[in-house]
Amino acid sequence: MDYICSKCGKKAPTTTRQAKCDCGGLWNLDYVPPKFSLEDVDSDEWSMFRYRKFMAVEGDGWKDISLGEGMTPVVRFDENVLLKMDYFMPTLSFKDRGAAVLIAYCKAIGVDYVVQDSSGNAGNSVAAYAGKAGIKCEIFVPEGTSPGKIDMIRAHGATCTVVSGSRDHCADVCRGKVDSDGCYYANHVYNPYFYEGTKTYIYEVFEQLKRMPKHILIPVGNGTLFLGAIYALEHLLASGVIDEMPKIIALQSQNCDPLLQAAERGEDKPAKVTPTPTIAEGIAIGLPMRGEEILRLTHKYNIKYVHALEDKIMEARAALAKKGIYCEHTTAANYAAYLHYCQLYGTAEDCLITMCGAGLKSDH
Ligand SMILES: Cc1ncc(COP(=O)(O)O)c(C=O)c1O
Ligand SMILES: [Zn+2]
Repeated sequence: MDYICSKCGKKAPTTTRQAKCDCGGLWNLDYVPPKFSLEDVDSDEWSMFRYRKFMAVEGDGWKDISLGEGMTPVVRFDENVLLKMDYFMPTLSFKDRGAAVLIAYCKAIGVDYVVQDSSGNAGNSVAAYAGKAGIKCEIFVPEGTSPGKIDMIRAHGATCTVVSGSRDHCADVCRGKVDSDGCYYANHVYNPYFYEGTKTYIYEVFEQLKRMPKHILIPVGNGTLFLGAIYALEHLLASGVIDEMPKIIALQSQNCDPLLQAAERGEDKPAKVTPTPTIAEGIAIGLPMRGEEILRLTHKYNIKYVHALEDKIMEARAALAKKGIYCEHTTAANYAAYLHYCQLYGTAEDCLITMCGAGLKSDH
């Protein structure tokens, strides 16, 4: 299989250790899945790899790496809200979808050392799957990352380096190590195999409900769930199994919103922002590396952005917890943003919201 550069169109075999193209563009996969059909879902496989016919997954190596990720329930929360319980995952966040595919690929091509930067959850996922795969792993997290996430990363046998400064600076430090030491950058934003995993979020919903909800609300930091979800929805559309794009609502933190600002101004590049601290640590991305791609899709599908208001996140978390849903702070931001959206634009009926991180991870 080949990568294809998102900027200059140059191709390279996916076995390359180069994290991006010489021109600076990020890699996409030169891969078009076959037409989606529920008949081609492997119903004997009780993990998200049941959709592997529509994923760029070759061979059976994934069987040794899988921790049973995916297959998370959709729970009715109230008349209008459906919750997709993606914190029911091996490492308690949706990032396992992407990390399982990425690390299975790393194993297949003989990578023996990976590095990754993360606000905590993606690093936690990569560390867990690298542990399963017997691949050495180092994760860089920004200072202030929840201790629960750091403890889990270390428990999986990875080195966890805490970098002072912002999340964006932490990414720079990790990329510096990739450049200087040539280690494999198992990064959820750069590496397109990750999106092959996050696509399954949508395939699962379709198999579970046999339809798509009218609204789908998705948090966007670097946009790994956003992009995977849209690629999968485009695939379902192209396959003729759904006939219209659901209304996507994207949310960003009030304190870090480069894509919301650009979307509202109709711009093609993320706005320059100076993030201020937010309790939604998982979406505090000032410089989303696939920002232009996210904005291209935003304009194409007329996607609306909404803020998670900082002073409403804890209230939303408490409201969810009262009804048995104990999610992490960043995930409570999703529900806070939903409520804000309804205030601004009227009730969003039949809305699917991801509960993508577990509560105990961010308790400190
Ligand atoms: C719980 C949670 N929600 C949302 C996100 C945002 O994901 P992305 O940065 O890929 O948009 C993250 C990222 O770490 C997260 O951990
Ligand atoms: Zn290029």
